[in-house]
Amino acid sequence: MAQKILVTGGTGYIGSHTVVELQQAGYETVIIDNLSNSNVGVLDGIEKITGKRPVFVEGDCTDIDILRRLFSEYPGIDGIINFAASKAVGESVKEPLLYYRNNLCTLLNLLELMPEFGVRGIVFSSSCTVYGEPDRNPIDESAPIKNATSPYGNTKQISEEIITDFINSGAPVKSVILRYFNPIGAHPSALIGELPNGIPNNLVPYLTQTAAGIRKELTVFGDDYDTPDGSCIRDYIDVVDLAKAHVMAMRRMLSSSEDTDRIEIFNLGTGHGLSVLELISAFESATGVRVPYRIGARREGDIEKIWADPAKANNILGWTASVPVTETMRNAWAWQLRTDSKSNS
Ligand code: NAD
Ligand code: UD1
Repeated sequence: MAQKILVTGGTGYIGSHTVVELQQAGYETVIIDNLSNSNVGVLDGIEKITGKRPVFVEGDCTDIDILRRLFSEYPGIDGIINFAASKAVGESVKEPLLYYRNNLCTLLNLLELMPEFGVRGIVFSSSCTVYGEPDRNPIDESAPIKNATSPYGNTKQISEEIITDFINSGAPVKSVILRYFNPIGAHPSALIGELPNGIPNNLVPYLTQTAAGIRKELTVFGDDYDTPDGSCIRDYIDVVDLAKAHVMAMRRMLSSSEDTDRIEIFNLGTGHGLSVLELISAFESATGVRVPYRIGARREGDIEKIWADPAKANNILGWTASVPVTETMRNAWAWQLRTDSKSNS
């Protein structure tokens, strides 16, 4: 019988791509999402790609009664992937309690209910933000955790600690913590992708909206960093590659073999850093579309350079990022064009 996975935040950006990969790998999925940063139309995209509409429950994971009802109504959930969280770094500085409540209550509720409903494992979405500005690159999982620079980043650090303490207390659950580097792009079908709210803060949605003429120009935040071209370096990871890693993590976590640790942490990145200017030029050469940009001041709080050592995920999960950045850029552009035509119609 197919294993059943609860995907919290499953209509969101990374969640929707992961539901596609889970369904294509033969898992049954149940999504819970409060639609605070996504819309229900995403389910149509998932259905078109996979031929199957996932079960969808509209609800808030900070409400434990809603979750308890869900577990009763859909018995036999084997594992959880917890994407549900608020994720805007700037907003978290202005509204810290909202971030602590949403991100931490969601996790606490899920952990509390897992033993009660016999759920064996939880995959948690963490971030390379826990490493702060690394002392050296590439960075592996044993690198020190630095002080968080935002309440959002702090929720990821605290969540990792909560999971660790809970499992070390002897709770009958396992966990895989995935530290994402910079997820970008969209499904190659252009049926699902990222839906930024308002003016994007992240580079790629801003870049594609500028290329589409929605924004006048992209500002490159600083070209005086200690990097070869002076702009910041990140490890940009294709969202479908990232989604596939969740399927592999889930498979490993739920496997009956006893030789896997009860908590495992993996970096998910390509292992290659790209500068902002290199990414712009990758977009231009992949799509043939020019991106008007100017060099601006540094953005406060930005990390100069960070990229992953993904060897642990490569060797233990058997996962490797495989989509070339030019293809990721073409997919991001196709998705941009599709969302434009939808919003204009
Ligand atoms: P997203 O905003 O697109 O998806 C999150 C989804 O969770 C949204 O659909 C939202 O409506 C839902 N949600 C939020 N709070 C909820 C609640 N209390 N109950 C039910 N649903 C709720 O974000 P994403 O980019 O897909 O990120 C998914 C996860 O990965 C988040 O935990 C995020 O912090 C983490 N992450 C993202 C990135 C990134 O660059 N996108 C990087 C590192 C980590
Ligand atoms: C940011 C968050 C991080 C979060 C991630 C995904 C900060 C400090 N970090 O990472 O916690 O996990 O988003 O949501 O906010 N850039 C420009 N011009 C732009 C936008 C970005 O030059 O208009 C540059 C930035 O300076 C950076 C790179 O592009 O060097 C990537 O930026 P972004 O997409 O915002 O991601 P991060 O800052 O890496």
